[in-house]
Amino acid sequence: MNPEAAIKIKSFVLFGALGDLSIRKLIPAWYYLERDHKLEDGLQILGVGRRELTRPQFQEKVNDALSTNVADEYLDVDIISKLLNRFDYCCCDLQNPNNYQELSSFIKDYSKPVAYYLAISPKLFESVFDGLNGLNILTSSCRIVVEKPIGYDLESSKDINAKLLKRFDESQIYRIDHYLGKETVQNLITLRFANSLFSSQWNSKSIDYVEITAAESVGIEDRWGYFDGMGQLRDMVQSHLLQLLCLITMEPPNRLNDQSIRSEKVKVLEALKPINEEGIESNFVSAQYTDGKNKVGYISEEGADISSDTETFVSIKAEIQNWRWKGVPFYLRTGKRMTSKMTQIVIHFKSDGHYIFDQDNESLKGNTLIISLHPSESISLKVFTKPHGVDKHSTLRSDPMSLDFIKTQKLLNIPSGYQSLLMDILNGNQSLFLCKEEVELAWQWCDNALEAHKKSNQELYLYPAGTNGPKESELLIQSNGHEWYEE
Ligand code: BG6
Repeated sequence: MNPEAAIKIKSFVLFGALGDLSIRKLIPAWYYLERDHKLEDGLQILGVGRRELTRPQFQEKVNDALSTNVADEYLDVDIISKLLNRFDYCCCDLQNPNNYQELSSFIKDYSKPVAYYLAISPKLFESVFDGLNGLNILTSSCRIVVEKPIGYDLESSKDINAKLLKRFDESQIYRIDHYLGKETVQNLITLRFANSLFSSQWNSKSIDYVEITAAESVGIEDRWGYFDGMGQLRDMVQSHLLQLLCLITMEPPNRLNDQSIRSEKVKVLEALKPINEEGIESNFVSAQYTDGKNKVGYISEEGADISSDTETFVSIKAEIQNWRWKGVPFYLRTGKRMTSKMTQIVIHFKSDGHYIFDQDNESLKGNTLIISLHPSESISLKVFTKPHGVDKHSTLRSDPMSLDFIKTQKLLNIPSGYQSLLMDILNGNQSLFLCKEEVELAWQWCDNALEAHKKSNQELYLYPAGTNGPKESELLIQSNGHEWYEE
């Protein structure tokens, strides 16, 4: 463990300060942290961008970002002014080594650790590392933050990791998957390991199957060029869905620290059964959206290549080959332009062997635990009871025991994942960030599935925009006697 890892950050350098991620997610997250008095006095945030802007002009941009991305009811002039005072700006062409000297002069105090957040294309990483290194300011206490995706396949992710590790120790590298900052995702560990009711039942003896769905209503819009080189499997499954899978299935970590949690997640990824060519038909569906419900199809979006066969939807039956999960299917499903935005994990428990209730109720079998990340952040356990009534002795009804975090904790709003992640970067806590092995094992599994799909004769299925994917996705789960959970 690097002894400097826990020293608090005093200077935060945000590369790509005028980009979409900064404007929509990071600047609002800084605002909420300021509002909640989480930021220390003296914390300086230096935005770095390509455009020539003065400090007041940049502060104006930050102000605009807040007006657009923070609800009016939460905006407060005093908090805005306090936050704006922290922001400074440096114009820098990241590919020009001569520009870095000026950048370094903006940082007020090098005796304290500095965080460098790269909200920029990975193509520029090396120029930034070289530029900073040329100034001798990359001390062993600085932190480097990079966003998913780390590459677009195993080879490119190894290349990025090698570049990072050439300049930094693993304890200085913060690889972000913003799903891990979401409160309900962090709650998975608490739910599983603080409640013996669940921890004692969390295995193949009690669980029949698990669904993880991340359905999006948005299409590709202005990201067509980028997305077409990725596809939904690389964009959503490789990190977000596999991370959820890891948290749902990993063994209890010895401690709640980064090393213990990461090593348990790595074991899950190592135990994921590779999807090979023979397995494609029964385990893998990929599809693309076509025109539907007032929305154009993927290949008719602006800037699209009409011959593209990139998938915008996948559903996969995954298996984890270890003692705890033998025989339990994990269905992963994600797509763009689906009916509505919905992110949830559904755990289907097995039913008891001998059925004593009305045979008409037999479809009401095991309990279901629904962990919702969107639209609500909630947990709901479906339990069976007898309906009230003198003649209802053997009939059943199924009702939810629900926990909505906003209501039960009287929250104003659920914090965005980036608030947690920024705090952890400032405080030097890596447990919500990915290590090199996690990233590479996840890519290996995805590369394998994509390669197997390419070699197989399976076609790219189609689904109309605004629906829940192709019928083949229904057939995939039904062929195992299961079905996607619908409210
Ligand atoms: C990003 C993907 O990582 O996650 C996007 O690149 C996707 O394509 C987004 O839309 C979804 O995030 P969330 O938090 O809205 O589920």
